[in-house]
Amino acid sequence: MPDTVHDKSGGREPLRFLVFSASLRKDSLNTRLIKLAAEVIEKNGSRVDYAEMKEFDCPSYNQDVETEGVFPAGATEFRNRILANDAIIISSPEFNSSVPGFLKNAIDWVSRFRPQPFNERHVLLMSASPSMVGGNRGLWSLRIPLEHLGARVYPNMFSLATAHKAFTPEGKLEDKTLVTRFGDNIINFMNLAEAATHYPCMKKAWVEFLGEKPDPVTERVE
Ligand SMILES: Cc1cc2nc3c(=O)[nH]c(=O)nc-3n(C[C@H](O)[C@H](O)[C@H](O)COP(=O)(O)O)c2cc1C
Repeated sequence: MPDTVHDKSGGREPLRFLVFSASLRKDSLNTRLIKLAAEVIEKNGSRVDYAEMKEFDCPSYNQDVETEGVFPAGATEFRNRILANDAIIISSPEFNSSVPGFLKNAIDWVSRFRPQPFNERHVLLMSASPSMVGGNRGLWSLRIPLEHLGARVYPNMFSLATAHKAFTPEGKLEDKTLVTRFGDNIINFMNLAEAATHYPCMKKAWVEFLGEKPDPVTERVE
């Protein structure tokens, strides 16, 4: 049986990952996938804050309600959990080639908090679907609001095609190649999130891109 758990931690500083499946369904394929992601993170020395979409579910956004200073409990919980963690991994279903409405609605509510908590948060997106595309089109739609809000959405996404046939009875991924690809995707994301969190020299390099003249002070690696 292929092992979904990778162990390539190699001295990484531990981070906290908010991990959730954006499905409200009991037998969700995305929930199965995100549970495997949680295993990889823990095996590689970081902490998992496992959430369920129902904790973040919100009534439809209404600016009149917000103007009264009332935020739904789901939005407050989502905001608090984002702030309590260093990075986020979401496994989201694709609905009509796009983001499920309840997830976009929760993002819209959370975007109204100040400071806006998605800003500069690292996010990895994955999806699972019975289709051959694996829900990947929905992830491209999900990138748009997240990137708009300043989230650092990882370039490589993982979409599990024919997901209804992809799991073993024990909930692991059947296909060995996919096991490797899935684990590597998460570990590479962990490495980037760790570097961004613990080595702020990345931000100095960013400033240099905007046209600063070369200077030993800004080139120095911290
Ligand atoms: C309203 C609705 C729209 C859907 N649209 C798509 C779609 O565009 N692409 C797709 O691959 N699957 C689509 N599906 C099927 C879902 O991928 C499938 O139900 C999947 O199992 C949902 O994820 P979950 O198992 O994590 O709940 C749709 C399902 C619903 C209910």
